[in-house]
Amino acid sequence: MKRLLSASSLFVVAILITALKPSPTQSTNYRHLGDSLSLKAQQALISNLLGAIEKGGAAYAVDFCHENASPLTNSVSSQVKIQRVSTRNRNPDNAATIFDKKILDTFESNTPLKDTLVAIPKGYVYYKPIRIGMPTCLQCHGQPKKDIETATAKTIQKKYRFDKATGYQIGQLRGAWKLTFLVDK
Ligand code: HEC
Repeated sequence: MKRLLSASSLFVVAILITALKPSPTQSTNYRHLGDSLSLKAQQALISNLLGAIEKGGAAYAVDFCHENASPLTNSVSSQVKIQRVSTRNRNPDNAATIFDKKILDTFESNTPLKDTLVAIPKGYVYYKPIRIGMPTCLQCHGQPKKDIETATAKTIQKKYRFDKATGYQIGQLRGAWKLTFLVDK
């Protein structure tokens, strides 16, 4: 019995040691969390967008996108700040900071990363590239007149006077998901 007890307490100690292991495992977890949360947000946005286009065309979907993009991304999780950032942003709130720009540059380098996790004093910031991954994106981010219908272009201009998010081609980097995790370290 005594032997059995000590064996099980050893087991408990082993579990504790594993659970308390510092940084490397912790940062790996935030990277995984960032990956799965941004994937969920991306899927929600795309299915919403496609649904709206099917319902009322691209010009109607612009309206819909404007009203719903932020609440949707926020609804994925309240524990983390989820944003989309770009150097050629449509919504002024999505403008990349100087630091965001540095990360975006690495996503455009010859050997781009799949994603990246950056430690900040208050936690971690996760970035994942967003590319023009399907022809649908071009209906609102492609060449004016050629890809973007006049009605759609008008709606975009009305809502986003300083829009910089047109002229893209398939495969180009459009921006990045930016997830800020505030963590006590
Ligand atoms: C129906 C029009 C429409 C389509 C199609 C569309 N977008 Fe957008 N996109 C918008 C609008 C409108 C905004 C601004 C949303 C806001 O106010 O936050 C936006 C914003 C973005 C942003 C955030 C940065 C910024 O410029 O403000 C990214 C990234 C983005 N779109 C990527 C994509 C990708 C990738 C696709 C294809 C899967 C796509 N979009 C398809 C209309 C569209």
